[in-house]
Amino acid sequence: MYNDNPTLEGVEKKIDEAKQGEVFYQTEEDKGGKKFYIESYGCQMNFSDSEIVASILGEAGFSPTRNMEASDLILINTCSIREKAELTVRKRLRIFDKVKKQRPGMLVGVLGCMAERLKKKFLDEEKLVDIVVGPDAYRDLPALVAGAEDGNKGVNVFLSREETYADISPMRLDSNGVSAFISIMRGCDNMCSFCVVPYTRGRERSRNAFTIVAEATNLVERGYKEVTLLGQNVDSFKWENPETKEKVTFAQLLVMVAEVSPELRVRFSTSHPKDITDEVLYAIRDFENICNYIHLPVQSGNSRILKKMNRTYDRPWYEKKVDRIYEIIPDCAISSDIITGFCSETEEEHKDSLSIINYAKYSMSYMFFYSERPGTLAERKYEDDIPLEVKKRRLTEIIELQNDISRIENAKDVGKTFKVLIEGDSKKSDLDFKGRNSQNKMIIFPKKEGLKAGDYTYVKVNESNSATLKGEIV
Ligand code: SAH
Ligand code: SF4
Ligand code: F3S
Repeated sequence: MYNDNPTLEGVEKKIDEAKQGEVFYQTEEDKGGKKFYIESYGCQMNFSDSEIVASILGEAGFSPTRNMEASDLILINTCSIREKAELTVRKRLRIFDKVKKQRPGMLVGVLGCMAERLKKKFLDEEKLVDIVVGPDAYRDLPALVAGAEDGNKGVNVFLSREETYADISPMRLDSNGVSAFISIMRGCDNMCSFCVVPYTRGRERSRNAFTIVAEATNLVERGYKEVTLLGQNVDSFKWENPETKEKVTFAQLLVMVAEVSPELRVRFSTSHPKDITDEVLYAIRDFENICNYIHLPVQSGNSRILKKMNRTYDRPWYEKKVDRIYEIIPDCAISSDIITGFCSETEEEHKDSLSIINYAKYSMSYMFFYSERPGTLAERKYEDDIPLEVKKRRLTEIIELQNDISRIENAKDVGKTFKVLIEGDSKKSDLDFKGRNSQNKMIIFPKKEGLKAGDYTYVKVNESNSATLKGEIV
């Protein structure tokens, strides 16, 4: 999910299974005409946005290519969440520079959060960049490209209060034909003090619920079996029908999408603990096809640090939320994001982050050390005073504990049988399938004649480690 994640092996493998890195294409017809190549970094929202960009460019006569050297336009959809994410982008730009020198007339465009953060400065800092486009300005891409072809470098980083790209049907990139993402909202109004997202993505706004259901319906018609509803804070989704004035909450939206087809699995990400309601939990409990999995980032296990992070909940409140989830959905898996080494975090407070992992029994976590981001509340108000070695050591402790917990929790699945959606061949062997259970755990199992990606099957788990389960079809 976050591809600058500095985590250790077991966890890394798990992340590796998630979509990340470069975006490639399922089908690549050579229609002639101009070609674009796109790479995406950062969260799933960015990957989803790249599919919107591809669709907009497709309408303008461009076709996608996975061959950078043969493209007329290289795009990089960037992330600013941590310093390392931005360094990765800068490194890629050096590589593009070499390709561009071999191909006169080729254009390079920077999209996404780093484009929004740096704006026009990008053109001054990186001479090879021709266009800079923020997350709300993708409709302007064809015009900006046309301008750049005439030698006018272009920037559009206008942040909108309305844009949701609701009417755009994304061109599915790098798709396995089984799972797809659907953006349901954009932006974020939570001012977590460490976070750059509110500055790069603007104000929170929800997409027309009917267009979301229409997109899910279209995916089902095309054979897709799983959708993940995306937003920085999906539980605060709210949309009002302008004609009837009826309001749709996230719990209602979940049900609307689940009712598209009982064969369609519904997932969602990310849930801010403060906003997830009992109605959402009841929807998960009552609909077999809404997956029993909640990504519920805690960030820290210590109440003082949580306050400083402006997360608006404290530790006891978060623990109660976890209790409530397990009470309503006993076999739910919960995962988390954790930041270690935030400003002024003491050794005792770090131990609270360890103990919350133990308490919540996360199936997995994305774990990071704090990286100060320009312009954020924390950068302006607090000192980034935890030495890098200390941050790294605390991160290692957190990763090791999470690996232990994942291993122990996964071992409890041995002997159980799960309904698994087959995603394709396992990475290691084409004699095996890989797929996920409702809890989002990856299961590897020997193939069986007649079954293919996109089919459901029942798998009994025989073996486990901290990252995957292994089993056989029953
Ligand atoms: N909207 C989601 C998270 C989006 S960013 C949420 O609120 O949960 C993904 C994750 O990156 C965050 O959950 C956080 O753990 C991490 N992150 C954000 N800013 C960071 C920073 N400055 N340093 C390190 N990690 C950060
Ligand atoms: Fe960032 Fe907080 Fe918004 Fe998540 S909820 S995107 S961490 S400001
Ligand atoms: Fe990165 Fe922007 Fe997503 S900063 S994590 S790409 S919202």
